[in-house]
Amino acid sequence: MAMIVRKGTVPSTPHTEFYAIPSVLAREEIHGSYGFSGAWSRKLHVRFYPTEQVKSPRKGDFDLVPDFPPEADVLQPYHIFTGRIPFEGDALSSRKPIVHGPRTSISVSKPMESMPDDTFFRNGERHEVYFVQEGEGVVRSEYGDLKFRKDVYVAIPKGTTYRVDLTSPKAWFLLVESIYPITFAPHYLNKEGQATLMSPVVETEIETPELPPFKDARGEFPIDVKHSGGKITRITLGHHPFDLAGWEGALYPFVFDIKSHHGIAREIHTAPPMHQTFQSGNVPHSGFSLCSFVPVMAGWHPREVPAPYAHFNVDSDELMFFCNAFYGAREGVIEEGSFTFHPGATPHSPQGNAAQRSLAARGKVQARLAVMLDTYFESMRITTQGFAFRDPDYVLSWSENVQRAQPVGEGWESPSA
Ligand SMILES: [Fe+2]
Repeated sequence: MAMIVRKGTVPSTPHTEFYAIPSVLAREEIHGSYGFSGAWSRKLHVRFYPTEQVKSPRKGDFDLVPDFPPEADVLQPYHIFTGRIPFEGDALSSRKPIVHGPRTSISVSKPMESMPDDTFFRNGERHEVYFVQEGEGVVRSEYGDLKFRKDVYVAIPKGTTYRVDLTSPKAWFLLVESIYPITFAPHYLNKEGQATLMSPVVETEIETPELPPFKDARGEFPIDVKHSGGKITRITLGHHPFDLAGWEGALYPFVFDIKSHHGIAREIHTAPPMHQTFQSGNVPHSGFSLCSFVPVMAGWHPREVPAPYAHFNVDSDELMFFCNAFYGAREGVIEEGSFTFHPGATPHSPQGNAAQRSLAARGKVQARLAVMLDTYFESMRITTQGFAFRDPDYVLSWSENVQRAQPVGEGWESPSA
């Protein structure tokens, strides 16, 4: 949203806003597409430009280049059990790409510790949105400290230098990356950049970073920069990267609670555009729509069928992360942390008698919680790491001949979440 945030004070004159720093003291940096119309921010570094490197850049100790199994070339829907991926390492070292496309990618990270002291990460090629399935902590960046907790999105613009510190024993992230900025959907905003009165989201529920006192430290501060399709280069600054007196602008990391997506109910079935929280690229021609399936009252018309219909997404691949197992259309197949990937050229639907069972849910609030992504004109592929945690029988889950656990009905009939 085009909300302008100003943060920071001059250290020697604590009550003066940062933009009043005499230019001889401050070093101004612009973050964004310089000279173009995209969102940008202006940062004021107290002593050093972020260009100061004190070692030659070198190849990183790891990379995030995805690789693909031979089966990635066989068209089929996939179901990945991300709950079964082990917890290990930190937010960066435990990052595993599971589904990848030329412009969009999905990873899972399940860290057990904070990133090593005074080390940083910068995604130089894709904007990021983390969804926090479990855990809490702080994303620290040059914009300040951004606390996160279960069930929030953490949006981090491309090029932000940051680290992830945990304040819980472990955490579980779903990570969405896009070459395009990830923003709220423009059709929710008026020409002033303000959420319209009918929008399910409102900018006042954005949580912004808190800027701590600037770090005025010399030393060696490594930043692992992701670029060129997942390659990592380590650069080393001679000063702490968080030496900002302040910043202003409309490009900054933020937190948005999935439950701040306020569901809109209507008498008859509401299709996914009602659930959209974010989008990326020039939808519906590129990028993706990101939807939050929060608890909302099902349609109450006497002929309403709450279960979704069978469908093809002819221009989209559909990707869905289930935060709990209470999703009526796929109950009995999914578990907490299930991730489904339905390529656009294959139809999908509720299985078995889910549509009939859903009739009992008319006018009731469901317990579901899920994050969905529809890509546009972009074919995604399962990676080797995603394939390792797949449900091998998923493509058969619509078959009448395959026995599945009996659904308990909570997906459709839970009175409240
Ligand atoms: Fe679908």
